[in-house]
Amino acid sequence: MEIAKFDSVDETRFNNVTWVAEIPSTNTALLERARNGGQEGEVIVADLQTQGRGRRGREWTAPAGTSLMMSMLLRPSSDALSPNNASLTTSALALSARTAILELTNIHLEIKWPNDLVIDTPIDQLLDPDPGYRKVAGILTETLISDAAIEAVVIGIGLNTGWGEVPPELQSVATSLDVLAKSAIDRNAVAFKILQNFETEYTALLTPHGSQQLLHKVRKHSNTLGKQVQVHMGATPKSQIIRGRAVDLDECGRLIVETDNNDSRVISTGDVEHLRLDAR
Ligand code: BTN
Repeated sequence: MEIAKFDSVDETRFNNVTWVAEIPSTNTALLERARNGGQEGEVIVADLQTQGRGRRGREWTAPAGTSLMMSMLLRPSSDALSPNNASLTTSALALSARTAILELTNIHLEIKWPNDLVIDTPIDQLLDPDPGYRKVAGILTETLISDAAIEAVVIGIGLNTGWGEVPPELQSVATSLDVLAKSAIDRNAVAFKILQNFETEYTALLTPHGSQQLLHKVRKHSNTLGKQVQVHMGATPKSQIIRGRAVDLDECGRLIVETDNNDSRVISTGDVEHLRLDAR
C-alpha cells in the first residue's frame, strides 16, 4: 500500500512540504522562496518539472511521475557551516538517499563523485561503450551567500523511481529503481525516508567533527575512489582534462587525483569518467 502525501516529517525540520503537479524547477522555486524570507525546512516535491536543472548548467528532464523530484531549503548558522563546506550537504543527502533506498528496496547504490547515486553494472551486462555504472539519481546544491556567510542552501534530488523500462538511448548510462527492483516503487515512502535520514545526517554534519564522520561514510560508499579517472574540468569537449587515480576526498569533499605524472590535484568541480573497466 502506498503511503499518502505528507505535510511534514515528525521530529525533523521538514515541517512544510508542498506537492505540486507541475513546476519549472523545485530548486528555482525554493531559491525564490529563500530570497523572500522562506524558512528552513520548506520542501517542494514535483511530479513534473518543465525547466529542471542539473549540475553545470545542464537540463534535467523526466516524464511526469517517473522520478522523485524534491528540493529542501536549509539555513545553516554561519559558525556551523562555511561556504567552503557547503557541498558537504550534497554528500549528506547522497548518503541519506542511499540508505533510504537500501532500507526500502534492498538495492545497494554507490556514490559517484561528486553527487550521483549509481549502481555498478555486472561485467556480463556491459555494453560498448559503457561507463561501468548506471546513474539512478543526481543532486543539485545551490547556495545564497551574503558577507562571506551562507544565507541559504537549496538542495534538490532527482531520483529515477518509475521508468517502467529504460529507453534504448539511455541503456548504457542510466536506470530506475523500479527496473532494478522489478517492482513498483512507492515514491512518497522514498521521499519520507530520505527526509528522515537527511535530518540525521545533516544535524550530524553541523556538529564539530561532523564533516570528518560524514566523509568517512562517503569514502566507504564511493564508487569513484580507487579508480582510474579522467576529469573533464570545463563544459566543452576541448576543456582541460586531468587523468589519474582518484585516491581520496579532502576535508571539504573535493576529489584528490594522483595524476599519471605523479602530481596531486584537488578537484572541486568537474565531470568524472571512470576508466579501465577491464581492470575492475
Ligand atoms: C545532476 O545530476 O546534474 C543533478 C540533477 C538534480 C535534479 C534535481 S530534480 C529536483 C531539483 N530541481 C531541479 O531543477 N534540479 C534538482
